[in-house]
Amino acid sequence: MNITVSGTGYVGLVSGVCFAEMGHNVVCVDIDENKMDALSRGISPIYEKDLEDLIQKNISIGRLTFTTNFKQAYGNAEVIFVGVGTPENKDGTADLTNIAVVARQIAESIHHDCLVVVKSTVPVGTADKVEQFINDFLINPVKVEVASNPEFLAQGSAVRDTLQADRIIIGAESHWAKEKLLDIYEPFQLPILVVNRRSAEMIKYASNDFLALKISYMNDIANLCELVDADIQDVAKGMGYDKRIGSNFLNAGIGYGGSCFPKDTKALSSLAKQHGYQLKTVNAAIETNEDQRLKLYNKASKRLITFNNLKVAILGVTFKPGTDDLREAPSLLNIPLLLEHGANLYIYDPVGQKNFSSHYAEGNYAKGSITYCASTEEALVDAHVTFIFTEWEDIKKIKCEDYAQFMKTPLVFDGRNIYSPQDMALAGVEYHSIGRAV
Ligand code: UGA
Repeated sequence: MNITVSGTGYVGLVSGVCFAEMGHNVVCVDIDENKMDALSRGISPIYEKDLEDLIQKNISIGRLTFTTNFKQAYGNAEVIFVGVGTPENKDGTADLTNIAVVARQIAESIHHDCLVVVKSTVPVGTADKVEQFINDFLINPVKVEVASNPEFLAQGSAVRDTLQADRIIIGAESHWAKEKLLDIYEPFQLPILVVNRRSAEMIKYASNDFLALKISYMNDIANLCELVDADIQDVAKGMGYDKRIGSNFLNAGIGYGGSCFPKDTKALSSLAKQHGYQLKTVNAAIETNEDQRLKLYNKASKRLITFNNLKVAILGVTFKPGTDDLREAPSLLNIPLLLEHGANLYIYDPVGQKNFSSHYAEGNYAKGSITYCASTEEALVDAHVTFIFTEWEDIKKIKCEDYAQFMKTPLVFDGRNIYSPQDMALAGVEYHSIGRAV
């Protein structure tokens, strides 16, 4: 099948590459010339395991190309997947500007029948509107239908999540659209559910928001565990044995970040509000998460008189391991507070440092300073306090004794519950984590 994928962010790029890997002819189109130029040379703009290898492989086989020429890319496609960004508006609703731009370009470019598939996360009812919009602006007398096919990949495991997805959701209103999408996904050999477009759009939000709720619930219980001397790790383990609950996504921490959960919880809450309904459960998750992201900082502030002139080691800045993405990362809220209070920050992140330095350059600030470190050891040496914001493998490898050996005062605030409090105590480290006794 000749497929065009519009947008080369996480969703568009990974989907396009995986369609090519499954044997389809794929053209990825984006307005960013530099990005398309680099991709054409096999260079991935994002850090994602196996992605660059697959890009290079499929370019060399001739199944994958990158272009900014949208007229050609849309004009020749049998199916166009739309994977452009739908960022958050100030009021929490989803910004559909990019979707509208692409819809208009498609309407003005296509000259044969075409299925347009919305992969981006969009409010329920958007596919209907996109179909109307394209038909309103259509130049040639061709048939266009819009389907919904939400994406469930997570950053850090995007290629695996796509090639081995738990399910494919197809939202189609006609036999023609359904059959085209079934053909495309046939080589993936994955469970497929076909529903109507609105249900498909809702499945995406409902799934993400359920996971966000699950995390916030665990964070809430973790906070209570601290007050009653219970251990959230043991509680989660005990809960996870129950198949109805499941053992995934029960990790308490410093709140969910990333480009999806914060945005999608607010978008669904706004959608409900627009319909005169209060989505109380999701609203509670949003509120809990806001508080949780400052949990570690607040704990440390209570423990210390000041951060002024202290060497503070920061381990991990990305919103989760396996990605260089910083969107809605808890570190972005905590680091300015530490700087404001005069801390000298020594930051280590195996892949996120470059992105982070575009927010916070190395050097002295009005109060405090930032130094980027090449190793965990460099960050830890002579530090007075350590904050762990991301559970990277490199960081998990640090031994309890290393904190005692390298730090000036072994005081650790861990937002990811990497260590056992008992092991840390045995090593002589004062260890504060989430939902567990000190
Ligand atoms: C999420 C969903 O997991 C994907 O299924 C979905 O396709 C994607 O959003 C999207 O809509 O595009 P992602 O944001 O990449 O994926 O990452 P997650 O692994 O879900 O983690 C999100 C946040 O939750 C991270 O900050 C992570 O640290 C946090 N988290 C996750 C916890 O605090 N506890 C957990 O138990 C699990």
